[in-house]
Amino acid sequence: MDRLQKLLQRQDLPDNIRQWAEKNDLLKMQDLEWFSPGDKSVCDARIADLVWELNQTRPSEREKCDAIISQIIKHNGNLTVITPFWAEFGYIEAGKNCFIGYNCTFIDGGRIKLGNSVQIAPNVVLATATHPIDAEMRATKLTKCAPIVIEDNVWIGANSTIVGGVTIGKNSIIGAGSVVTHDIPENVVAVGSPCRVIKQLNLDKDLKQIKDYIEK
Ligand SMILES: CC(C)(COP(=O)(O)OP(=O)(O)OC[C@H]1O[C@@H](n2cnc3c(N)ncnc32)[C@H](O)[C@@H]1OP(=O)(O)O)[C@@H](O)C(=O)NCCC(=O)NCCS
Repeated sequence: MDRLQKLLQRQDLPDNIRQWAEKNDLLKMQDLEWFSPGDKSVCDARIADLVWELNQTRPSEREKCDAIISQIIKHNGNLTVITPFWAEFGYIEAGKNCFIGYNCTFIDGGRIKLGNSVQIAPNVVLATATHPIDAEMRATKLTKCAPIVIEDNVWIGANSTIVGGVTIGKNSIIGAGSVVTHDIPENVVAVGSPCRVIKQLNLDKDLKQIKDYIEK
């Protein structure tokens, strides 16, 4: 038995720690508290078989793919997911008209929300989960999640990682290979690790240019 388990059996535990220790681990995860990812309640909530089925389905079997995708991601229509795609619990919502490229991984225990017309390039990782910084605590495998929110019209470049608790504001672009550790405001281009804003976007002006060109 590890040290944490021994400590949690002590009779003189403060009430809040005792209540936490006695709480169901899936509820702890859903309430964004530290939880044990190997607990049966959490294992039973994983959707590994569904994800496996999606990734074993031929892309040409569009209706079957779409039906499985709709079980993994609750969305408002016209969602494209290029397989393989990886998710843990299916705690994912998307608006209309989103695109998710090859080989994206959604560690979604903390919930992931995509707005409308979000575009996610290949190999992007959205990781809502984290582990303790203290090595002895980390050895217990305790995990804690925080939500990720990607607002309307965001484009995330290939091979980027977004960590838990981050919101990316509408219309913004995250450059390829970025690691996003803080919120990114609306209407900017942000790049790098850690991801920093490099450019403000004036979408009205840019849209006007394109409209003028098309309508010429
Ligand atoms: C961010 C991006 C969209 C370019 O945006 P932009 O506003 O046109 O930026 P620019 O090309 O003017 O670059 C501005 C500066 O940022 C740097 N930069 C651009 N993208 C970068 C990135 N991903 N990481 C680090 N630096 C980057 C450029 O080198 C340039 O630096 P410099 O001024 O020192 O030369 C593009 O570089 C990118 O990352 N695209 C994603 C491509 C992709 O993932 N495609 C998959 C298909 S969906």
